[in-house]
Amino acid sequence: MHEHNLLPLVLLPDIRLRKKAQKVTDINDDLIQTLKNMHHTMLTAKGIGIAAPQVADTRQIIVVDLQDREENPDSSRPLFFINPSITWKSDTYDEVEEGCLSIPQQLATVKRPVSIGLEYTDINGNAHTLEASGLFARCLQHEIDHLNGVLFIDHLSQLKRNVIARKSKTIKKELIKEDKNIIPIAT
Ligand code: NI
Repeated sequence: MHEHNLLPLVLLPDIRLRKKAQKVTDINDDLIQTLKNMHHTMLTAKGIGIAAPQVADTRQIIVVDLQDREENPDSSRPLFFINPSITWKSDTYDEVEEGCLSIPQQLATVKRPVSIGLEYTDINGNAHTLEASGLFARCLQHEIDHLNGVLFIDHLSQLKRNVIARKSKTIKKELIKEDKNIIPIAT
């Protein structure tokens, strides 16, 4: 097996983006390989986060890698999060433009808590807690939303959500025609 493979992406509209992911009970080679493949796929698509439902996997796993998008990137920061769960959210919010690998070519400003607390398990099965703020916290919230079947468009007004959902159908058809690396099943 290659060290990592490019995985086809699930794009909106697709029912799999709306399903809740399952808690991981067994950290095995397949799970670790899937995380590596997700990371490779995310970097190739120039994303900073990816969640299992976006590659048609049903497990509670996400990858967050901000690369050099912050002034002081912390190279010791974890990339792989198993069963991540938010334990608290700050009362302060900010609004930042977001995109999503499953909703290509579309951006919108989303309001989220600035800081969060997180519990997760690492690939060695060890439990951790961490506090995150800024772009890291935003990205974790976006990816954990995916594990609950929630997309960033759900945080927008219904009008904006409908516009993006409608455009997504067209964009998805075009990308399938161009034979991009996506899963061409919309249900
Ligand atoms: Ni996303």
